[in-house]
Amino acid sequence: MIDTRSANSNDTDSHAKKRRSAEAALRFVAADSVLGVGTGSTVGCFIEALAARPGLIRAAVSSSEATSRQLRAAGIEILDLNDVTALPVYIDGADEATRTRQLIKGGGGALTREKIVAAAADRFICIIDDGKLVETLGAFPLPIEVIPMARALVARMIETRGARAVWRRGFVTDNGNHILDVHGLSIRDPLALERELGEITGVVTVGLFAARPADVLLVGTATGTEAI
Ligand code: A5P
Repeated sequence: MIDTRSANSNDTDSHAKKRRSAEAALRFVAADSVLGVGTGSTVGCFIEALAARPGLIRAAVSSSEATSRQLRAAGIEILDLNDVTALPVYIDGADEATRTRQLIKGGGGALTREKIVAAAADRFICIIDDGKLVETLGAFPLPIEVIPMARALVARMIETRGARAVWRRGFVTDNGNHILDVHGLSIRDPLALERELGEITGVVTVGLFAARPADVLLVGTATGTEAI
């Protein structure tokens, strides 16, 4: 799997912060419930925390094949979203977040299923480390999932808006689609941009979570977790 994120010397610190936010999310999980589970390394920490509490949840709805593998390895049953009538809570990470809990997601390429599970959940608890908290979204390239035959068309349409759309070569989503990572955006109005880009023919999902932001943002810091 190709990822747009790169390793850096603060990885150990950042991992500890991810673990703090992941562990703080446990208090939002009701015993014996069906839980929505996102994708990524922070969610990986959360699944480890869940695995340490066998039997806490009844089952999970997963947002990606990678997460499904981790959940099965932890002995957690996975349900198809179509077979679930109530999903009280969804736990997932993000690539960038504002204090208004609007997000950029999709660095791991799972944005479409993540948006579906977030839409189905009553509460979306987002877990991040404090390096991802920003004033304005857009320094992280915005992932957009596209139908493969429309990739170049969508890239041209985005470039007329003054941004640069880079094909994530070699990466195919769980839905069989491609990803464009859009650079050079300073996103003043996330909701308007999510709608505008979502209307381009060939776009499956825009990695902005503004229409359905997180309900709670748990930010792991050097000393604890801040809830926003
Ligand atoms: C997956 O497609 C993403 O939306 C992830 O939720 C996001 O990239 C956060 O991942 P990390 O927890 O690995 O930083």
